[in-house]
Amino acid sequence: MTQTTPRIVVTRRLPEVVERRLVRDYGAVCNTRDQQFSAEDLREALRTADIVLCTLTDRLTREIVEASGRRAQLLANFGVGFDHIDLDAAQRVGLAVTNTPGALTEDTADLTLLLMLAAARRASEGEMELRGGRWTGWRPTHLLGRSLHGSTLGIVGLGRIGEAVARRAHFGFGMRVQHLARPDSRRSVPEYVTSVQSLSELLGSSDFVSLHCPSSAETYHLLNRETLSFMKPGSFLINTARGPIVDSVALAEALVEGRVAGAGLDVYEGEPTIHPSLLSAPNVTLLPHIGSATVGSRTAMGMIAADNIDAFVRGDALPNRLV
Ligand code: GLV
Repeated sequence: MTQTTPRIVVTRRLPEVVERRLVRDYGAVCNTRDQQFSAEDLREALRTADIVLCTLTDRLTREIVEASGRRAQLLANFGVGFDHIDLDAAQRVGLAVTNTPGALTEDTADLTLLLMLAAARRASEGEMELRGGRWTGWRPTHLLGRSLHGSTLGIVGLGRIGEAVARRAHFGFGMRVQHLARPDSRRSVPEYVTSVQSLSELLGSSDFVSLHCPSSAETYHLLNRETLSFMKPGSFLINTARGPIVDSVALAEALVEGRVAGAGLDVYEGEPTIHPSLLSAPNVTLLPHIGSATVGSRTAMGMIAADNIDAFVRGDALPNRLV
């Protein structure tokens, strides 16, 4: 960048300390009303700002990225996932994109364990019973769940978050851990994690399956009617990655039919709308996409986005460049 004060538009409310930094350093235009940007708002932001600090609620489609009259040169994404940005289009038009990996790993892994425990111990079912005034008191056969200890966790996507989940499951809860091997992965696998060669084998031999892969054309409905039928009877599905990886209707059916014992979900296809069949399915704990929602993670994510902006403005290499 050659200008000294680039125009920066921030698409959502950010933790105060991050907004203060961006306003202090650049006079950034913040979204104080926190209203989600429409397609037109995004087009306008790309037309009028040098840098747009966006996030996962902004659908930066090919049409928007390729629209004529673009002034923006950097999309500094707040968040690690980038399935809402057409990266190919961005690369084609020379729009740099960065993300914020690392900052949310541990908190998202914690939330994954929360969902595993909630599903296995039927926590949501129990709370609904109690709040609904239907609890009649302690009895030996009431709400019997499953144990995490001694059971097997199957991880799809052994990246940063997948590995943080594996560590907690193995060392914290005494679980066996296996993951779906990817022939193209160069990441080393911890010695306590077994590599399994096919999805059907992983699903058929895991008591808990936890998804940590990116959302892409390749992983769209990876868990569908057919693959859900490969899951070990009585097993649990956890999704803290992205909604489109799971066919929600097929999952709801599997839960109703008892083929899948329970599920813990933090992300949904087409969120914030949740398919009604999931809302009424038994034994599913539903959270509103809060995997990284701690003060620490959200602040760190904002600071990393700001660091990428600083590097861009200085003309330095971008620390977390996607394209
Ligand atoms: C949160 O879901 C993220 O992608 O950072």
